[in-house]
Amino acid sequence: VDDELAALAQDARHVAVLSGAGISAESGVPTFREVQTGLWERFSAEDLATPEAFEEDPALVWTWYRWRQSLVQAVEPNPGHLALAQWQKRLAQAGGSLAISTQNVDDLHERAGAEVLAHLHGNIAAHRCTDCDAVAELPAPGYDGFEAPPEAEDPPSCEHCTTGLIRPDIVWFGEALPMEAFEATMAAIRAADLVLVVGTSGIVQPAAGLPLLALERGTPLVEVNPQETELSETMDFVLRGPSGQMLPTLLERIS
Ligand code: APR
Ligand code: ZN
Repeated sequence: VDDELAALAQDARHVAVLSGAGISAESGVPTFREVQTGLWERFSAEDLATPEAFEEDPALVWTWYRWRQSLVQAVEPNPGHLALAQWQKRLAQAGGSLAISTQNVDDLHERAGAEVLAHLHGNIAAHRCTDCDAVAELPAPGYDGFEAPPEAEDPPSCEHCTTGLIRPDIVWFGEALPMEAFEATMAAIRAADLVLVVGTSGIVQPAAGLPLLALERGTPLVEVNPQETELSETMDFVLRGPSGQMLPTLLERIS
């Protein structure tokens, strides 16, 4: 962490954080665009995360999400999540804020003790009916490990309308983002004096366009990612490493 960035982080009163799958990678949740293990290596997120895929093969898509849900429940937040939670508490105590908007459907930020402003792509533990939108409460699935291919299972039918299928309450490719979450994130970025982009490949719109709001205003942008991304060129600072190491290192520079 160079001194200029450390000084900016030290002085920042309002920080906005945009996080993606990479922040949960060190917890053991594979990111979308890295090779998956076990049964799923044959599928890409683009093949499974669409309304069309669910229509075509509901059991395949349902089982994939139930497996991911079980995995997310079985893992723990990592030092990256914890550092953000700590920074958020410090800023809140000092009358500032740290707003977290995540593309992740896991709850690892929350379990690290942070408050999340926006889940831009929904929440994998929530379910609703494809037809009538009724909320469905489902028991959490058990976790059978990475390699064991779970047997494909049909999604349950809706108890409310009885015809619709239950789906995870998340945003699939081609679907709209929850408007409130998106607008709250835009407001947080506009109000921020420092913006961190952590663990996202920056290729899925519209979330990937959000950092541009900071760019327009001249707000310093920091990328935390071991790899170069589509967004790297627009960044003022780059912490080129895993967020579980880089975020605690950055926090150490802030008193
Ligand atoms: N720390 C930080 N970043 C990491 C780490 C790590 N330890 N490991 C990997 N990364 C980075 C990768 O270099 C990559 O840039 O995380 C990023 C993950 O990119 P994606 O898999 O594309 O995840 P994300 O950007 O969150 O995907 C966006 O696409 O499939 C949809 O809806 C899904 O929310 C998801 C969206
Ligand atoms: Zn229904």
